Amino acid sequence: MRIDFVTLFPDMFAPVMDASILGRAKEKGLLEWGCVNPRDFSDNKHHKVDDRPFGGGPGMVMMVEPLEKAVKSVKKKSSKTIFLSPQGEKFTDGKASQLAKEKHLVLVCGRYEGIDERALDLFDEELSIGDYVLTGGELPAMVVADAVVRKIPGVLKKEDAASSESFVEGLLDFPQYTRPRVWRGREVPEVLFSGDHKRIAAWRRDAAKAATKRKRPDLMSRA
Ligand SMILES: C[S@@+](CC[C@H](N)C(=O)[O-])C[C@H]1O[C@@H](n2cnc3c(N)ncnc32)[C@H](O)[C@@H]1O
Repeated sequence: MRIDFVTLFPDMFAPVMDASILGRAKEKGLLEWGCVNPRDFSDNKHHKVDDRPFGGGPGMVMMVEPLEKAVKSVKKKSSKTIFLSPQGEKFTDGKASQLAKEKHLVLVCGRYEGIDERALDLFDEELSIGDYVLTGGELPAMVVADAVVRKIPGVLKKEDAASSESFVEGLLDFPQYTRPRVWRGREVPEVLFSGDHKRIAAWRRDAAKAATKRKRPDLMSRA
């Protein structure tokens, strides 16, 4: 997969996109990514990309032209173009699985008070990472990229590592334990040392249901 980020702050990306599992995905040739800056497409001699909102009000608005040129510079026929926005469809694990099948994502990051409304015509979708407002779309774009890339076959070491995780089957993940076996008097459940894979699987399924009921009862009915 290739991901192009359209951003006024390209320096924010490498520390996240080149680290850990995403970095390894790039080394393995499963991910390519790049940034394109609307500032490089501004006709203005000061590379201005924003202006005051018509009708007045606080802040600045990203202008449509540099944004359009930046998107067009990377967009191909097969690209899926997504604007990160608090007004978009809520991003979910299901959406991440769907996007992991795409060949090319163009993730567009807003700043300031947002973008000129007419720029929305440039995008296939608008995605929100939650009902709160961040200062820019860069963190949301990297949240989406991270959740999507780990779903690409071969990115995680064990193929089934992603399938048992929270939300995949509608439940939260089962509780995990590692050394020490006893910590401050709290013991790891005995069944996990039984070597009986069927019993362990059954215990994990029950524990996942119990955790979901306790922490996210809203998910139970769907599961
Ligand atoms: C300060 S916000 C603008 C918010 C806009 N005035 C509104 O209330 O809908 C600047 C940019 O951050 C990004 N952003 C902020 N919160 C987001 C969220 N929850 N999900 C996705 N993107 C978000 C968007 O790209 C947005 O254009």
